[in-house]
Amino acid sequence: MMSSLQETLNNVNSYESLIEVFGLGYVGFPLAVRLASMGMNVRGVDVDENRVNRLNRNELLETERNLKGSFLSAKTSGRLRITTKPTPSETAKIGIICVPTPIPTKSITSNIHVNSSIKSFLNTCNTGDIIIIESSVEVGTTDSTRTMIEAAGHKVGKNFGLAFCPERIDPQNTRWTLENIPRVVYCSDDTTFKIIKIIYSNVNNSNLIRVSSAKTAEVTKSFENAFRLVNISLVNELAILCDHLQINAREVIDAAATKPFGFMPFYPGAGAGGHCIPKDPRFLLESSKKFGSQFTTIHNALEINSYVPIYISEHVDDIISKNNLTKS
Ligand SMILES: NC(=O)c1ccc[n+]([C@@H]2O[C@H](COP(=O)([O-])OP(=O)(O)OC[C@H]3O[C@@H](n4cnc5c(N)ncnc54)[C@H](O)[C@@H]3O)[C@@H](O)[C@H]2O)c1
Repeated sequence: MMSSLQETLNNVNSYESLIEVFGLGYVGFPLAVRLASMGMNVRGVDVDENRVNRLNRNELLETERNLKGSFLSAKTSGRLRITTKPTPSETAKIGIICVPTPIPTKSITSNIHVNSSIKSFLNTCNTGDIIIIESSVEVGTTDSTRTMIEAAGHKVGKNFGLAFCPERIDPQNTRWTLENIPRVVYCSDDTTFKIIKIIYSNVNNSNLIRVSSAKTAEVTKSFENAFRLVNISLVNELAILCDHLQINAREVIDAAATKPFGFMPFYPGAGAGGHCIPKDPRFLLESSKKFGSQFTTIHNALEINSYVPIYISEHVDDIISKNNLTKS
């Protein structure tokens, strides 16, 4: 079925389109449930058969249990289906990509899963359809997706929509959630932006900040996490100094935080953990390398944070031996 972006807009407006969410992990699963709960027709697609079978048996992980009620009613209503593969649709399709983006190595590129999910979407989609990337990607990934779409015979921004709308979720944060975190978005054209606004009205009340290029949105996403990484490494190094000085780092930070401007408190820990903070800033390092430069601040922050667990364990060893304790 050939269609236009305008027809897709009409389809989405009347809730007749099909949304395929690729990757039903930490990011994709709540999104699929949310969109289906808001009345959209959603297919959750995951290559992991065990995950798909488990969800089809209505078995949720501990981290997914809070969604059980909405998940079950979305499935019962038929608005949410879970499969291993995308399927062709009579109506417009929107593919939302929520697959992993690993740290690139010699043998793996960060966009390996993004590319494979886009390939499978392109095998079953039509002119007029849309791809939205939510995964945190390396700079240039959205532009290479454009090349893939055009190689499949579509014209991005004319008869096919492309957007990058990165997820900003902060695990365990109860104040800022999927529903109220604003999103930075790049859209290939104005009609696609209108479509995205309707879709995300069901997610975060369309609180979208549109930027002028895909690269701007990609760098913004990684830079946000680089900001946290660098500040965590700064405060961890401060904690090591305070340790040597035998003063309390927390007291220093809380005192500094009384300054009403130009200071944001971060607290020491065992390095920068979680899924995204140690990973996404590396995408900026990779990008800098391509221009023969080094993003030294990020490079140093990664080094400092990887040293912190060693420092802590040496410190614990020291306490154990000074107190004649034994390790068990
Ligand atoms: N976890 C977070 O807190 C968080 C926050 C913001 C952004 N992100 C980003 O979102 C993306 C997804 O992260 P996540 O934490 O949800 O990952 P995850 O590992 O929890 O889930 C990813 C899912 O994608 C599936 N998958 C892999 N390749 C696929 C393909 N070709 N087609 C369909 N499914 C496929 C996997 O089987 C898995 O179930 C990453 O880029 C990540 O950096 C994560």
